[in-house]
Amino acid sequence: MGTLEPYKRLGEVYDQIHGRKQDFYEGYLEFVEKAVNDFEVGSVLEMACGTGNLMEIFEKNGYDVEGFDISNSMLGVAESKDLSVYKQDLKDFKIGRKYDLLICIYDSLNYLEDLEEIKRCFESSVEHLNEKGYLIFDLNSKYFIEEATKKWEGSAFHYELENHEVFYRTCESEDKWVLKTMVFEEKDDGFYEKFVEKHVEQSFELEKVKELVRETGLELEGIYSSLEFEKVDEESKRWFFVCKKK
Ligand SMILES: C[S@@+](CC[C@H](N)C(=O)[O-])C[C@H]1O[C@@H](n2cnc3c(N)ncnc32)[C@H](O)[C@@H]1O
Repeated sequence: MGTLEPYKRLGEVYDQIHGRKQDFYEGYLEFVEKAVNDFEVGSVLEMACGTGNLMEIFEKNGYDVEGFDISNSMLGVAESKDLSVYKQDLKDFKIGRKYDLLICIYDSLNYLEDLEEIKRCFESSVEHLNEKGYLIFDLNSKYFIEEATKKWEGSAFHYELENHEVFYRTCESEDKWVLKTMVFEEKDDGFYEKFVEKHVEQSFELEKVKELVRETGLELEGIYSSLEFEKVDEESKRWFFVCKKK
């Protein structure tokens, strides 16, 4: 089997690795509730929702939540949790309804190839937002991607799961983060089946992303370097954007 597209099969093990990061997902709910001030959010759309970990938290807290993703394997897990999800592409999604909040987290936008694709995503977002609604998203910063590539090139993170061994290996690259995920699944006969996916996270200039937000007619309310609303500086690892439809 050759190298697969990102998330072609990773959904099979995703929650055993990332589903443990409940503090991160719960922190997002708190961040959102503070960021929107007194705007009353009822309906939420999670863009690139993956297996729906954040959706579950919003749902438990009384929000009307839907989500979409492009990966069948991730969507399959979200559906098994009885979440309302669609198969759509960030670059050009059409759900046919509007929401008070659109949210896109955990590097998902870094998967888009260039600023043109980010722009198309913002344009679709505006079409799905109610008046005064919010678009909240994060991006791994350019600084983080360059540092990660230098620091981890050739090395791998290893996760030992119940029936799987998983490696996330950083490959050589300059301005993007190229990761190969290798999953070894133990079969009943003791042999392992292996599948490999290639993930590419692009790095973007902060100023250019800001410009795009404004060009799409959104108001930029703030950019932070953490879910505690810390200021952005040149060594921020992640940027958290809070934007509002005028
Ligand atoms: C790092 S995962 C994050 C998933 C989820 N937001 C979470 O917090 O667990 C990135 C997600 O982006 C999705 N994705 C990547 N490119 C996409 C695209 N063009 N359209 C929709 N989803 C996309 C992947 O399928 C994957 O589920």
